Amino acid sequence: MFTIGVLVSGKGSNLKTIIDKIKDGYLSSVRIGVVLSDNPDSGALKIAEKEGIRNIYIPPGKYKTFLEPDIEKKYIQILKENKVDFVCLAGFMRIIKEQFFTEFKDKIINIHPSLLPAFPGIEAWKQAFDYGVLFTGCTVHFVRQKPIDSGPIIFQAVVPVLSDDTCETLYQRIQEKEHIIYPFTIKLISENKVFISGNKIILK
Ligand code: GRF
Repeated sequence: MFTIGVLVSGKGSNLKTIIDKIKDGYLSSVRIGVVLSDNPDSGALKIAEKEGIRNIYIPPGKYKTFLEPDIEKKYIQILKENKVDFVCLAGFMRIIKEQFFTEFKDKIINIHPSLLPAFPGIEAWKQAFDYGVLFTGCTVHFVRQKPIDSGPIIFQAVVPVLSDDTCETLYQRIQEKEHIIYPFTIKLISENKVFISGNKIILK
């Protein structure tokens, strides 16, 4: 079995899709070892709980944008205790630091709601909408420490901005695509079909 740990902060729609895809057999060799959240009120924790998946809220400490070093150690320790092979960030709102990259080298992926490298950072769909682009989308990428939202791109899906879109309708359609490309990427990685070559990806 390919055991993933999922780090979350928000409502958990990507987590839910991963769970559904495990249940319907699409991700037949994947299991979720543990779900970790820095936010006690995240919908994702409730989803995990309802599905009987181990889930833990770990208070992030005193910093706003990253985990306190000792706390980051704790996240890693719990992932290891739960035999996690691979880490999937699914709306985790903290920047992860060195220790994560040492312990899970080339084993951390993220889903981001824009066509990277355009619009890194928070509320990327809003950044794209406000900028006035005609196309945006979402990206699954390996996570590199710096800069934020960088790293080899594994998949992207394009979403057109429609003339009657609001920020909310646009984001809704981006999320529909996220729910396709994130499980698809996890499936390919679990089948050992994704390789990194420099800043590029080779699919085998
Ligand atoms: C997604 O839009 C993802 O791209 C971003 O955070 C959001 C998480 O959404 N990194 P959800 O909690 O999975 O619904």
